[in-house]
Amino acid sequence: MLKLHYANCLSDRVGPHGLDAASMAAGSPSDARIAQLTASLEKTRNTGWERWRGLHVDPMRRDHVSAIHKLVEERRGKFDNMVVLGIGGSALGNIALQSALNPPTYNLLPTGERSGPRMFVVDNVDPAYFGAVLAYCKASDPGLKRTLFNVVSKSGETAETAAQFMTIRQLLIDALGREHHGKNIVAVTDPAKGTMRQICDANRYATLPVPDGVGGRFSVLSPVGLFSAAMCGIDINALLDGAADMDKACSKPSLSENPAAMLATLLCRLGLEKGKTIHVMMPYSNSLYLLADWFRQLWAESLGKRVDRQGKEVFAGFTPVKALGTTDQHSQVQLYREGPNDKVFGLVEVKDFGASELAIPTGLGVEAIKYLEGSTFGTLLNAEKRATEFALVESRRPNFTIEFPKIDARHVGQFIYLWEMATAYSGLMLNIDAYDQPAVETGKVATFGLMGREGYGEWKGKVEAALGGSGWVI
Ligand code: PA5
Repeated sequence: MLKLHYANCLSDRVGPHGLDAASMAAGSPSDARIAQLTASLEKTRNTGWERWRGLHVDPMRRDHVSAIHKLVEERRGKFDNMVVLGIGGSALGNIALQSALNPPTYNLLPTGERSGPRMFVVDNVDPAYFGAVLAYCKASDPGLKRTLFNVVSKSGETAETAAQFMTIRQLLIDALGREHHGKNIVAVTDPAKGTMRQICDANRYATLPVPDGVGGRFSVLSPVGLFSAAMCGIDINALLDGAADMDKACSKPSLSENPAAMLATLLCRLGLEKGKTIHVMMPYSNSLYLLADWFRQLWAESLGKRVDRQGKEVFAGFTPVKALGTTDQHSQVQLYREGPNDKVFGLVEVKDFGASELAIPTGLGVEAIKYLEGSTFGTLLNAEKRATEFALVESRRPNFTIEFPKIDARHVGQFIYLWEMATAYSGLMLNIDAYDQPAVETGKVATFGLMGREGYGEWKGKVEAALGGSGWVI
């Protein structure tokens, strides 16, 4: 099980920048608040936008896993490349799972040594980026025939994903013919409604559901994230078992026993009471680094809200930042220790790198670096993490550590569910709706206007009125 070490967030370690231990002890107001919020979350479990809490539980789990495995089995061995098309909640989880659980050189391995097709996630509409991936797939022997496109879009109306989908559909029709092109597409979309659903039904594409009541940023443990993971050999049942482990721990009503409640309490209280409004996630592991990207969306989009539940303007939220240990010790830690004391640092440590561990050879015999001889890279990485933790405490910077005993699907599932629950608790603590994203909409409809979508013409005018005129420097 993951462990959460939070002593470095307390005032006996970081003085006035930390929380008083007594204020979090059994019977304290924080503890009593958690009992209340846990009861309230039990009432809303699997209802409304909290249906993500049922993804690891039957019948939803059984239905999804068997539908995913059936599609994976049918496609096994038939594809050398898989391109996931999606953005935001329809891509960040896929990227994080692949990076956490397959080797960094996965795409470079020869077929047969890989646990599935090469995987590319194209979540942006940069033409150079998308074009390069398409060119690679077209040039692969025997062309696009062995490339599977996994289109992920609940709505089907997201401009980025729609443009990509239109492009690959035409390429597949050109390469394989109208009749056969659909074999190379698996869509994950709304089971009943929406533009992508209509397209899939009309063309008889294979589909998997984005379940009702599961928002994009809470959807990684649904077919959204699990289909591409399973295609690449990741044990999706172990991911869901991990979520179930963490669900159990995060259903406990006492603060000291519930890691999500503890994270939410630490981060919200340090933010609101101590001005620590920047929340840095810093894994000491390249594999876990992109989980920090997934976390950034979850934390930012869920908690960054102008109004509270009563409609009062509050401008809630914290700014999530990702960093990588040890790399960012040589880039960011100067600021982190001596710049504004407005951050909480979430360090992520891996206890055992298992078969990936690498020894440092003996024999060079140069005095200044002799201490490294015979040690291992994992030992050095974790010593640097411990040293940074110490240095942060020396500078009175609150920090906590999430410890992975090892990196595997079960612990990654625990990590994902831990942060989803911490977000649910934080939404209640901040008294905001953690499940909407009204501010994202303006950019979407203004794009429709600028791109000439019918019915959105007024937005083009609004953009031009607001941004027109001079102001260029060069
Ligand atoms: O979290 C969210 O809701 C968003 O990031 C969406 O996932 C993203 O905008 C993509 O939406 P869709 O799946 O409808 O294409």
